[in-house]
Amino acid sequence: MKVLVVGSGGREHALAWKLAGSPRVQTVFVAPGNGGTAGEPGVRNVPITDLHALADFAAEEKVGLTVVGPEAPLAAGIVDLFRARGLRIFGPTRAAAQLESSKAFAKDFMQRHGIPTAHYATFTHPVPAHEHVRAVGAPIVIKADGLAAGKGVVVAMTEAEAHAAIDDMLAVNTLGVQHNEGGARVVIEEFMAGEEASFIVACDGVNVVSLATSQDHKRIFDGDQGPNTGGMGAYSPAPVVTPDVHARVMREIIGPTVAGMRKDGMPFTGFLYAGLMIDTLGRPRTVEFNARLGDPEAQVLLMRLKSDPLDLFLHATDGTLNELELQWDRHVALGVVMAAAGYPQAPRKGDVVTGLPGSSDEGHVFHAGTERAADGTLRTSGGRVLCVTALGDSVRTAQQRAYELLNPISFDGAQWRRDIGHRAIKPR
Ligand code: AMP
Ligand code: GLY
Repeated sequence: MKVLVVGSGGREHALAWKLAGSPRVQTVFVAPGNGGTAGEPGVRNVPITDLHALADFAAEEKVGLTVVGPEAPLAAGIVDLFRARGLRIFGPTRAAAQLESSKAFAKDFMQRHGIPTAHYATFTHPVPAHEHVRAVGAPIVIKADGLAAGKGVVVAMTEAEAHAAIDDMLAVNTLGVQHNEGGARVVIEEFMAGEEASFIVACDGVNVVSLATSQDHKRIFDGDQGPNTGGMGAYSPAPVVTPDVHARVMREIIGPTVAGMRKDGMPFTGFLYAGLMIDTLGRPRTVEFNARLGDPEAQVLLMRLKSDPLDLFLHATDGTLNELELQWDRHVALGVVMAAAGYPQAPRKGDVVTGLPGSSDEGHVFHAGTERAADGTLRTSGGRVLCVTALGDSVRTAQQRAYELLNPISFDGAQWRRDIGHRAIKPR
């Protein structure tokens, strides 16, 4: 079978790499792909991003399955378009993708269906938004409504920060959020304390298969300091998701979400990602939903997936996920993101990347913002450049391996965290 992966990040490199390893997959096309997918055995980049052109390509090449990585094409309706043309695709429809593309939709949905989350209020005008902050006080969380690649959220520890975030999101928009219909809106939320985890399941509209647990690191600097990013590293499994927490999440969050989406006439097909906040008593609440795999969570999850990924996608698009059980490597996977100078605000492009190690069973460097330049050098082309991923017997050994693998890699201005996995490593 020929398979098409839509996207150009580290998550898509990992998807393409895993799918290329399936004995039943002939070629994996990645549209548009990156400098890493360009050199991956069995994988070919196709320079197409227009959705109609992608559907034409899939039809002409007789692509048997398309898997969508990022949120933007989902929110633009790629799944609706492919399905209307009789093409097999895994992902949510445009309507279902609103769980991610509109925070206001997601919060209303959770309230309607009794899914645990933070209290919130939605504002389009700054004056009542500022009043709300004064009434509630800090810490408080200000979120832009719209797609922001994980960056449209300010966890304000002081009221002053909250006021500044409101002014920015409702007027200046320095974060460059892609607004939904009706223009700029903010969601102001109660601050939730606890530890975060990423809980990702595959859905076929009715049935659900949970992936292994994982956790990412959203802040740019060590010790979880500095601005939010798309994710600076991840590991799997996440010890904070104990078997009890897992059962609660399935019962209180995932089950009602999938049932609620069906009831509301937009059955969810695709990867459903619940960002969780787990308090000290093990009670999970939903921070956000994503309508896709996480990045860099996908890189560590796919390193651990032992089942044929094609089985997962074929069952998911046939509506038979109830027949599937996934096998996971017992090892821990840990990935460290190397980001470009200036990330997350204004990443610099064009720096030459050198020192990439070869691939092995224990480690893999997934590319994100890289491209092969005309002179043959590999250059940075985006904010997150690489995700250096390794397996180990424990979080500590996976972490050691990942940093050993990262050591020889270099590009000007590279930034990476030195503490990926720290929450899962007990002090000796
Ligand atoms: P989001 O894009 O909604 O996932 O938010 C990005 C990050 O901001 C989350 O991963 C959390 O670290 C933090 N965050 C968002 N909402 C809250 C909340 N209500 N309480 C505490 N932290 C939050
Ligand atoms: N790593 C978080 C995300 O993909 O949104």
